[in-house]
Amino acid sequence: MQLKLEGVWFGYRNPVMVLRGVDVVFRSGEVTMVLGRSGSGKTTLLKVAAGLLRPSRGRVIAVDDSGEPLSRPKIGYIPQGIGVVGNMTVMENVLLGALDRNRGLGTLLGRFPREEVERAEEILEQLGLGGMENELVRELSGGQRQRVAIARSLMHGAELVLADEFVSQLDPLTTIEVLELIRSLKARGIGFAITTHDVHLVPRYGDKVAVLKDGKIVMERLASMTSPEELVEAL
Ligand SMILES: Nc1ncnc2c1ncn2[C@@H]1O[C@H](COP(=O)(O)OP(=O)(O)OP(=O)(O)O)[C@@H](O)[C@H]1O
Ligand SMILES: [Mg+2]
Repeated sequence: MQLKLEGVWFGYRNPVMVLRGVDVVFRSGEVTMVLGRSGSGKTTLLKVAAGLLRPSRGRVIAVDDSGEPLSRPKIGYIPQGIGVVGNMTVMENVLLGALDRNRGLGTLLGRFPREEVERAEEILEQLGLGGMENELVRELSGGQRQRVAIARSLMHGAELVLADEFVSQLDPLTTIEVLELIRSLKARGIGFAITTHDVHLVPRYGDKVAVLKDGKIVMERLASMTSPEELVEAL
């Protein structure tokens, strides 16, 4: 699957435009790192990509591998500051990912079909959270919360996860742990677009890098073709 932003303009308040003709492609099976200075519009870009904000001009389109448009692309969005619910358990948070295919009174009361619970258990196991189903999310560490957020996206069936500042608040070792996890999910065909300020993570964990500046993508290339110095220069 590919999610394409074509000539996207967006402003919260006319006539001030935050995005001024953004062209970028995010693919499943690929990690794209989105860089840009604070206030450059990275969060705005991900929200437009996730369909939470409508572009004022241009379009966002999802296509399958043969180029056919997808009407209901499987996209997960993890907001800056994670977006998991602290007062709920790990299992409850993950089951939220299954909400849109299980609408009914039972799910409103927190009862999901047995197979959904089993699927959630399987995902938690894969992400190293087995046995933590009943822990309250607010009592988890930052890295564990990130994994709960990923688990919810996987539960949703996401092929592409848009994750805003995903590793910004983690210590260096936990950051690497989470990025290694992302790398292993990539091998299973899941793609990620991650905004970050850390230019050093790009060559190691990114397949592609896109730099946002003055409302446009000023650099988009293979991560292996850039150096941290070059990226700092482009910011
Ligand atoms: N809800 C909003 N209403 C009005 N203006 C907004 C809103 N959200 C963001 N902006 C403005 O849009 C611009 C881009 O903000 P955005 O949050 O996308 O930047 P960012 O690159 O994610 O920054 P950071 O690295 O600090 O997270 C900023 O000038 C900001 O003030
Ligand atoms: Mg932001």
